[in-house]
Amino acid sequence: MRKKIVAGNWKMNTTLAEGVGLAKDVNEALAARTPNCDVVICVPFTHLASVAAVIDGNKLGLGAENCADHVKGAYTGEVSAPMVASTGAGYVILGHSERRQYYGETSEILKTKVNLALENNLTPIFCIGEVLEQREDGSFFNVVKAQIEEALFDLSAEDFGKLILAYEPVWAIGTGKTATDDQAQEMHAFIRGVIAEKYGKEVAENCSILYGGSCKASNAKALFAKPDVDGGLIGGASLAAADFMGIVDAWN
Ligand code: 13P
Repeated sequence: MRKKIVAGNWKMNTTLAEGVGLAKDVNEALAARTPNCDVVICVPFTHLASVAAVIDGNKLGLGAENCADHVKGAYTGEVSAPMVASTGAGYVILGHSERRQYYGETSEILKTKVNLALENNLTPIFCIGEVLEQREDGSFFNVVKAQIEEALFDLSAEDFGKLILAYEPVWAIGTGKTATDDQAQEMHAFIRGVIAEKYGKEVAENCSILYGGSCKASNAKALFAKPDVDGGLIGGASLAAADFMGIVDAWN
């Protein structure tokens, strides 16, 4: 059975003190619950070790928002997968549309990052999704299929089985304009079909596919009720513990 997951992506928000405070708040809120899903927070590199020290790793997973496409060496300013793993983090977001758009991350680069993450026992949360123009011109299925094929289809079935996917339509990110639950379901079912074609039905059925893009407590329940939506990757609404918990509670 595939996992249900609610993961926060803090993006470039919070100072260290604010971030540790937020992590403590989330941790405390979780301690008072038996969540019906896995819960993960993905935080800035600078916060990882400090956040790892204040959370209960059995109840709350920790991830980075990116990692380098090299292991070590003269890559000033970069943070490698082994460095991320050494903080206690277990996850890493890769292929977020903001990284693709603003930092030129291509499928070739992402393929390398995914391999390095897996070699270092980090679970990639791999993001895919179309921009508005592609939604409007009808190419969105082909765009998402190509993103998956180009970066991920060199993996063995065993390694593919370690991934979490996140469908994040770019037009829904930070815009307040959520995909409808039917739009999300339609794409998630399509993605599962693409995986099944390559790796077989079992791998496809076991793959958690999260929805991201203006997901909040008020719309999470309807999204999560769809059979192929296995949870959410949450930006803005992960920056306050109460809002984030509202989404975690949507699984109850
Ligand atoms: P918002 O929830 O702020 O739309 O962001 C979604 C996202 O990009 C998560 O990775």
